[in-house]
Amino acid sequence: MKTIFFLIISALLIHQLQAQSLSKPLGNLKSYKKTSNGVVVQTDHGNLKATVYSANIIKIDITEHAAFNDFSYAVTALPDAQVKILIQDQRDNITISTDSLNLVITKKPVRVSLYNKQGVLVNGDDEAFGTSWIDDQITTYKKIFPDEKFIGLGEKTGGLNRRGSGYQNWNSDVPGYETRQDPLYATIPFYIGIRDSVVYGIFLDNSSKTQFNFGASQDRFSSFSVDNGDMNYYLLWHSSVAKILESYSWLTGRMPLPPMWSLGYHQCRWSYFPESEMMSLAKNFRDRKIPCDGLWFDIHYMQDYKVFTWSHDRFPDPEGMLTQLDNMGFKNVVIIDPGIKVEKGYAPYEDGVKKDMFIKYSDGKEYNGQVWPGWCAFTDFTKPDARVWWGTLFKEDIDQGIDGFWCDMNEIASWGAKTPDNLVFNFEGHPVSHRTGKNVFGLEMSRATYEGTLQLFKNKRPFVLTRSGFAGLQRYTAIWTGDNLAKDDHMLLGVRLVNSLGLSGVPFAGVDVGGFVGDASSELMARWITIGAFCPFYRSHKEYNGKDAEPWAFGENTEEISRNYIQLRYNLLPYIYSAFYEASQTGMPVQRSLAINYSHDNMIYQTDYENEYFFGPSILVAPCVSTVRATKVYLPEGIWFDFYNNKKYDGNSEMWYEAPLEKLPLFIKAGSFIPEQSPVQFTAQQPTDTLTLHVYYSSFNSHYVYYEDAGDQFDYQKGDYYKREMQLIASSKQLVLAKVEGN
Ligand code: GLC
Repeated sequence: MKTIFFLIISALLIHQLQAQSLSKPLGNLKSYKKTSNGVVVQTDHGNLKATVYSANIIKIDITEHAAFNDFSYAVTALPDAQVKILIQDQRDNITISTDSLNLVITKKPVRVSLYNKQGVLVNGDDEAFGTSWIDDQITTYKKIFPDEKFIGLGEKTGGLNRRGSGYQNWNSDVPGYETRQDPLYATIPFYIGIRDSVVYGIFLDNSSKTQFNFGASQDRFSSFSVDNGDMNYYLLWHSSVAKILESYSWLTGRMPLPPMWSLGYHQCRWSYFPESEMMSLAKNFRDRKIPCDGLWFDIHYMQDYKVFTWSHDRFPDPEGMLTQLDNMGFKNVVIIDPGIKVEKGYAPYEDGVKKDMFIKYSDGKEYNGQVWPGWCAFTDFTKPDARVWWGTLFKEDIDQGIDGFWCDMNEIASWGAKTPDNLVFNFEGHPVSHRTGKNVFGLEMSRATYEGTLQLFKNKRPFVLTRSGFAGLQRYTAIWTGDNLAKDDHMLLGVRLVNSLGLSGVPFAGVDVGGFVGDASSELMARWITIGAFCPFYRSHKEYNGKDAEPWAFGENTEEISRNYIQLRYNLLPYIYSAFYEASQTGMPVQRSLAINYSHDNMIYQTDYENEYFFGPSILVAPCVSTVRATKVYLPEGIWFDFYNNKKYDGNSEMWYEAPLEKLPLFIKAGSFIPEQSPVQFTAQQPTDTLTLHVYYSSFNSHYVYYEDAGDQFDYQKGDYYKREMQLIASSKQLVLAKVEGN
């Protein structure tokens, strides 16, 4: 009997030991010390550091090593030394308190939980797993609640609520991706959790391959993992999603004011060439009175696809052509790929080799991969000197009259799609392998392009569009969602992707309107161009093959619809620009998922309604596919007005709404102010001097901030702007305009 008992106990112990060696837990607290803004805890198996960044943000670092790795490409804020902190050692735990939160670190075992000041658990470690390692992979497991929802995570497919899904971050070139494919091109490891009455944010600041699980294939926890490296994450707590976004964008930076022309309509194709075709495109827009600001040059403008060159057969006089286009009111953008052709006598390559600007293998040999021009070397954008050097390469393009730059293929993309892991990235002088460098390559390419062109443009605002990126990309660039398909479900996916990017700190985003791969029907093009008019970045683009895709290529009806909605976009520019101003001040996106204002309304997460969003503060857009002529719409709490006929609706209601192709469902929230200007054909054209202000009456007081400046330079920083706050006093139906701010 004794022997059997002993055997059972031994078997149980062995089983437990085996299980433990599979997963190494952080363990119990061994010792701890206070720092100026938090604590460092030594545990059985590692070290944990909690650092207060602001009254609402605490960073948690966990490592197996003696030293913490604090470097970040994403975060620009430093811990605010003014924040009042109280650290208390209770018997079983240590509590760090600020004015708005309490972080509790239990000692046995070490677990981290965030409470609000009412004592409600906002977010807490899973009791069983906490933070632990499996081999090199470190994972933090969080408690999951039955009603908990997860939104954000950047450019991710799937629904608005990410509950039940898992995702990976590994920037990838995914031409013609599927509507559920993951990962896509860009990584933003930031999400917002919503449950009960609380909302919180988690930002995992590690550029290695990371994984997120929001209760996918299990219902025990949500979790996030780093495949190689340490656990570095920020916990953000606030009273609303808008405030969380303000905190997150404080941490990772906000977008600068964009040049006004970049908010107009853009026409792109792979590729418009030669010069005569580009000029006839330009003439068509003006003759047909379809407003347009941006005409784009895809890869065929180059000589043998070599960046920073022009094909002189196709474009014999770039400067002359760009001057003519400029005279017609067009701005021009060229594509720039990171691959620099390996070729003797090609200045960017030879100079880059001489100055040691390219990525190398770990044995010091230059890395070459194949892209459009054939074998290429790749600038190491994580090397400060290389960023400066890259920035100088734009001089000739800018002197010739190019206004903006389109950074493509920066995941890094190459034929074969398997960039080797044994490449070395400088990482600001602390070399890392491709496993850690890859996800920030696109971010740093955009940064080098923004900073370089900023120098060269002097007082003119740069414009950069990128395909790949990482958290913080909004500081330098707009982003588009790559090579989508000309299909209805992709059109709606595009809406969700831009909504999600907005929930992840990136206000300036867009999709290839009309679809990149395949030929859109005239109905699809009509619907897409109307939805695009209510998207922060508005550009039609299409692959090399297939039919023409300009607004007039789909027949008279689609041309008419395109003209009307593009014109509407231009009329609304004062409203749109004010929304971008708000984004630059608070991080509030321009395209706003309803989850920002109605976070706790379960209806907005339903499949029928999850694509609805606000464009700016006031216009609710209910996008629908091109195959229907009526659609279900949900209006959340409040009073709403039909954009087309001012019909009044009570919120908290569902309805069928007639949506012929020429009528995108649009509703205005009561209490809104919408400034509108007279029609122009391009943004540099002067509208009349009358600005029309539409005010939508509400029984509550409401207010609005109107902002305007020169739209293309930096003198607003010296006070050259016009800003005016407006109030609607409901009881007296009075409109009060505050004093004008600015020169
Ligand atoms: C990539 C880009 C696409 C571009 C093409 C040619 O596929 O995503 O937008 O047109 O390359 O440059």
